[in-house]
Amino acid sequence: MKTKKAYINTIGCQMNVYDSWRMQRLLYDENYIHTSSPENADLVIVNTCAIREKAVQKVHSFLGRMKALKKKNPGLYVVVAGCVAQQEGARLIERFPEVNIVMGTHAVDQLPDLLRQMQRNGNPIVEIALTESILEKPVKTVAVPGDASVSGFVTIMRGCDNYCTYCVVPYVRGREVSREPGAIIAEIEAMVRSGVKEITLLGQNVNSYGVKEGMTSFPELLAMVNDIDGLLRIRFVTSHPKDLSDELIASFGTLPKLCNHIHLPIQSGANPVLKRMNRKYTREIYLEKIARLRSVSKDIAISTDLIVGFPGETDTDFNDTLDLMKTVKYDSLFAFEYSDRPEAPAARFSDKIASDVKYKRLQALLDLQKQITADNHAALIGCVFPVLIEGESKNQQKKPAVPGIVELSGRTSENRIVNFALPSDSLLDMDVLKGQIIHIRIEKAFLNSLRGVIVEDQTEFLKPERRHSHVA
Ligand code: 5AD
Ligand code: SF4
Repeated sequence: MKTKKAYINTIGCQMNVYDSWRMQRLLYDENYIHTSSPENADLVIVNTCAIREKAVQKVHSFLGRMKALKKKNPGLYVVVAGCVAQQEGARLIERFPEVNIVMGTHAVDQLPDLLRQMQRNGNPIVEIALTESILEKPVKTVAVPGDASVSGFVTIMRGCDNYCTYCVVPYVRGREVSREPGAIIAEIEAMVRSGVKEITLLGQNVNSYGVKEGMTSFPELLAMVNDIDGLLRIRFVTSHPKDLSDELIASFGTLPKLCNHIHLPIQSGANPVLKRMNRKYTREIYLEKIARLRSVSKDIAISTDLIVGFPGETDTDFNDTLDLMKTVKYDSLFAFEYSDRPEAPAARFSDKIASDVKYKRLQALLDLQKQITADNHAALIGCVFPVLIEGESKNQQKKPAVPGIVELSGRTSENRIVNFALPSDSLLDMDVLKGQIIHIRIEKAFLNSLRGVIVEDQTEFLKPERRHSHVA
C-alpha cells in the first residue's frame, strides 16, 4: 500500500518532463503515489527552468504559495529541483526557508537518498554538484498506475558545450555527456512493454550524441532504436543546425519509424545576429541544410525557435528573420523576446533593445507565422495521413460528450494534431484504437489542429512507400 502523496510541478522543457517522470517512478518505489493537487500532498517538488526570466519568476511565485501551504501543513516537504535549483543553490533556502531540499540538474537519481537524509536530521539540504558522468540507473518501475501514455521521453545526453551567448544551459546543466546506448535501449524496451508506442529522444544537442565519448553516433543510435519491436515512432529534440550531418539527414529516408519532422532552431535570420549569438552557422548554411532535408523527404515538417530583440538587432536584421520565415515556411515555431540571463555573456552586451520594440517584433513574427500555418494547413485538406491515436481529444475531455459520438485525437508523423469523431455504432473501439496508427482524411484545417474522418478502407494505405506522401 502506498501511504504518501507527492505533487510534482514541472516547469520548462521536455528534459524536465523526463526528469519529473523519473522522480515520480523513484518516489513510487518509496511508497509515494502521485496527487494532482499540492493541497493534498505530503511532498511537493517543483522542477524548475532558468532559460528566461519569466520562467524563474514562475518558480518564485510558486514557492510563495508553498509558504502559505506549509503554514497549514507543517509536515509538508518542499523540494526545488532543476535549473533554478542549480543556479541559485543555498540562496533559495535563504529566501524561502520553507524549502527542505534544493537539488540540482545532476541529482535526480539521488532524490530518495536526499529525502531519507533530510528526514533523519531535519536540516535543509543543498545538492548541486555537477558530476562528470550520468548517474541514471535503470528505472525499476516504468509504468505507474494511472499513466497510460502512448508516447514517452528518454534522455540520451545531458548538458551543452555550445555556449550560445544568450543561453544559461551550459552553466546550469554542465558539460555534454552522452548516456550509454545499452541503457537507452533497455529503458525504451521497458517503456514499450508498458504500452509506449512513440519515443522522443532528448538532449540539448542530440546531433553530437556520442561524439566526445567516441561512442555510437546519433544516426547509429536511431537505427538501433528503429529495430525495437513494438515501437511505432521515433522523434528527437533538439538539433543544433551546425551539427546536422548528412548521415542524420539520410536517416529520414531510411528509417521507417523516424517521424517526418525536425525541430531545427535558427534563433535569427540575420548573419550579424547569428555571429553575436555564437551560433556558428550562417543563414545560407542553414537554408542549405533545409534544402537537403527536403530533398530526402519533400514534405518533412520543420519547426524552429526564434529570439527577437537580441542586443543590437536592427530593423534590417529583424526583417531578415521575417524573410527567412517566408522562405522556409515553418510548420510551427516557438518565439521568445530576448531576456538577459545573468550568467550568459549577452547580458553584458551593449545596444539592448527596448521592451516595447521586442514586444512589437514578437507580435509581427507571430502574425506572419499564423498566415504561414493557415496556408500550410489549408493545403492538407483532402490528404490522408497515418495518425497515431493518443486518446480522447481535448474538447472531449472538457465538454460533456455529444451523445453517441466520442472525439478522439492523435498526431501525424509531422506532429500535427488531428481530431476526429468516433460514432458509437463504429466497429472500432476507443480503447482498441489508442496506440494504433489509423489513416484519417483531413476535412478541416485550424491553426492548432486538423479535423478529419477515418478512411474506410485502411488497407489501401498500408503500403510503406506512402509513409511520407500525402494521398489526396
Ligand atoms: N532569452 C530568450 N530566449 C531564450 N532562449 C534561450 N535563451 C534565451 C534567452 N536568454 C530560447 C532559445 C532556445 C529556447 C529553448 O529558448 O530560442 O532555443
Ligand atoms: Fe543553449 Fe545554445 Fe546549448 Fe541550445 S545549443 S542549450 S541554445 S547553449
